[in-house]
Parts: sequence; structure tokens; C-alpha cells
Amino acid sequence: MRFPAEPFRIKVVEKIRRTTRDEREQLLQRAGLNVFLIPSDSIYVDLLTDSGTGAMSDQQWAGLMIGDESYAGSKSFFKFEAAIRDITGFPNVIPTHQGRVAENLLFSTICSEGTTVIANTHFDTTRANVEANRAEALDLPVKEALDPSLGKLFKGNMDLVKLEHELKSRKGHVPLVVMTVTNNSTGGQPVSMENVRATSKLCKQYGVPFFIDCARFAENCWFIHELEPGYKGKAILEIARELFSHADGCWMSAKKDALVNIGGFLAMNDSDLSRKLQQKLILIEGFPTYGGLAGRDLEAIAVGLYEGMEHDYLQYRTAQVRFLGEMLLDAGISIVRPVGGHAVFIDARSFCEHIPPEQFPGVALTVALYREAGIRGVEIGSLMFGHTDPKTGKHVGPHLELVRLAIPRRVYTTSHITYVAESLLEIYKSREKIKGLRLTYEAPVLRHFTARMEEIS
Ligand code: F0G
Repeated sequence: MRFPAEPFRIKVVEKIRRTTRDEREQLLQRAGLNVFLIPSDSIYVDLLTDSGTGAMSDQQWAGLMIGDESYAGSKSFFKFEAAIRDITGFPNVIPTHQGRVAENLLFSTICSEGTTVIANTHFDTTRANVEANRAEALDLPVKEALDPSLGKLFKGNMDLVKLEHELKSRKGHVPLVVMTVTNNSTGGQPVSMENVRATSKLCKQYGVPFFIDCARFAENCWFIHELEPGYKGKAILEIARELFSHADGCWMSAKKDALVNIGGFLAMNDSDLSRKLQQKLILIEGFPTYGGLAGRDLEAIAVGLYEGMEHDYLQYRTAQVRFLGEMLLDAGISIVRPVGGHAVFIDARSFCEHIPPEQFPGVALTVALYREAGIRGVEIGSLMFGHTDPKTGKHVGPHLELVRLAIPRRVYTTSHITYVAESLLEIYKSREKIKGLRLTYEAPVLRHFTARMEEIS
């Protein structure tokens, strides 16, 4: 068996609708060929994101019923706090309603003009929150991360030589070093414990706090368990505790590895910093024992954090993603290798060789995938990160043109995943028919969410 059977059975189902090709064509035209603008009830398999889209367990749903909705001192908060302290070891815990609020609280407190936050790679909301606070966001991924075809392990790592250089030359101007685990923006690639340890050591040496953006910490710990010498016999919880022991704090979008639809938190050693963040929390999110969440959400997170670290679950989860990746690789489709934790990233530049970057090959592939099969993926390429240079009128694009197929947790079966792979294989056979696109509308910021396009015939 290439893929272990699901370690759960299904108690509640949600209908999904198959549409006709004609219907999908009409919806695409109405949406200006932008899959963000297609209503979700017309999508058969939705791989737009793995964030907040997971299925909760019976235990989590049971937790919802015992949520304590008290404004102050809710017992659900103390359960949530105990779970986070147990896993991370950080004494100060601040609930937020999702990851980017944690980023907002943190970066609006520690950043100022002339400072630089350094990360293995900032996720886009992380970068946006650093930059919104007039600081620079500097990415220092290992150079292997930039080559999608290279099947090297731990491509999520930080470049330690560059990190030391930057810490030395920017002494006194780096308020924080961040490790994003897994590294979403470089293909959901894991970070090794060795790299975390070495980063932590450098941060201590230069007196800079070190935080982990731990949205997908359990998946990262699974890769350490499987791939890094010395970790095979350890429980994921034990590996997670070691991971966090190297840092001064963390924040989490709980919508990923905590298996909930909404939620997040910050946790840290520094009590003074925590108090400052709490003051802001009261201003923008709520009282420190709920922080923008309902008591029932805190219950679901407290349970989900542990379920997300279960051996059988993580084995199934990572194997399901790998199964999709391997089916594509076997058919000759280029993807980011090795397959990461939460998604398969298709190399759209190679899939649509005949479409130049300024005609958005990644978006063209998302259009083909929806048109032919009702599947929604997301472009991570020239539409999301490119722009037209106002001086030269030339297209300036990112290094890679990718389409991300993010797999929601515990939602789709192997049959769905097989359907996705087989649909892509069909499209690949006549890929030269996919047409390049031109923009008919673009917003001044974050244009990919609302852009409208047409096909170039
Ligand atoms: N950090 C990482 C690594 C993320 O992947 C995300 C969200 C965030 C922070 C922000 O958290 O959405 O709860 O505010 N990633 C989603 C994605 C949106 O599709 O990859 P949030």
C-alpha cells in the first residue's frame, strides 16, 4: 500500500456537488477567471488552503459543548493555556483569533524604522505585518530551497552562514529572528532540529530573541521523527518540546496543526513583553482569557493540539500529501521536491512551458484545473508576487511560478486525492491547449484576490 488507510471513520458528511463543464465555464467567465471569486458550493475538491478547512473530531465537537463562555477567567482558557504550556514550555500564553493577529500584536510592539526581522522565510502575512510596522523582513532560506527539482532533505532550513553575517553587521537592529515550521513559502519544507539548535545558538550569541512561527509544528516534528538521525524512537510530543525549548517564544495560526477552523496564540518566556502584548490584545481582540475567541474555540484547540501530534494521524497525513505528489511525479509532472507537509506545489512554468510568466502560467493552470475537473488550487507566482514596472512597462516576476494544492486535514479521502491526480494527468496530456492570460482589472495591493483576467487567443 502506497498510502496507509485513514486512521478514522466518518460520522458526519458534507455533500459536495459535481457541476457540468458548461456550468463551470459560465462560473469562470463570471469570476473573471479568478478561482477566488467562485462560490465554494460549485467546487468539487477545494485545495485552496489547508488553513481552517480541517475536520474536527468527535472529541473536539464534544469540547464545544462544554466551552465556558465567561468573559473573564473562563475554565476553557485555563485548559487551553495548560495545553500550550505543556507542549511549548512557555509560561505566558496569549489567545488570538488567528495567526496574523498574533503577528500584528508582536511586530507592532517590537519593530521600528531601521530594524530588520530575519526569518528562514516569512509567510506573506508575517512579512506584511513586519513591513506595516516600517521594518524590513529579510528571508534567509538555504539556497537549495530555490531549486524545486532538488530532492534534498530539510529545505526549510535557515542559511546559518548568512544569518551570522546579518546578525553581526546589523547588531542592535534585529528585534527578532523567526523560524517558520514548516516553511510554507518554500513548499511546506521542514526545518531540522539541528538547524533550529544552531539558529538558537547564534541568536543567544548575538543577544537576539528567537521565535517560532509554529502553524505546522506537528508536521515539522513528524519529518524530524522520520528523517533526522536520533529521533525515530521519540514521541512527537517529546520532539515538539525539544523544538520549543530552543526558542524564546512562538506564535501559531491554530487553523493548521491544531485542527480547528479558527484560532491562534502567542506564547513566550518574556513576561514584560507578554504584558505589553496583553495590553494591546485588550484593545483589539478582547480580555486576556479569550482574545477574540469563544470559550468553545479554546476547548477545541486544547484538544486539537494533541490530536495533531498523534503518530497514526501524522503518518496518514503526510503520506496522503506524498501520495498525490508521487502520482504526479510518476506521470512526469514537475513539482517542488521533496513533497512537503501540507501541500503539493506544481511547477507551472514547466507544466505550461508555452506560456511566458507575464501571461500567468500558474493562474492559467488553476483555470484549467477548475474548468476540466471542478478542483480549486491557488497560484503562487506572477499574479500573487509580480508587478509591472511603472518605468519600463516590463513584467517583474518571482523566482518560481507555482500552483499550490493544499490538502485540508482529515477532509478528503484517498479517492478524492486520486481523482485530483488523475484529472491533472488528463490535463497534462493536452497541456499545450492551456491559454495564457491578460489582466483586465487589478487592485493596487494584494491583487490576486480580486484580479479579473481574460484568455489570450
Ligand atoms: N504563518 C504561516 C506559516 C501561515 O501559513 C499562515 C497562514 C499564517 C502565519 C497566518 O495565519 O491565516 O491564521 O492569520 N497561512 C494560510 C495559508 C492563510 O493558506 O497558507 P492566519
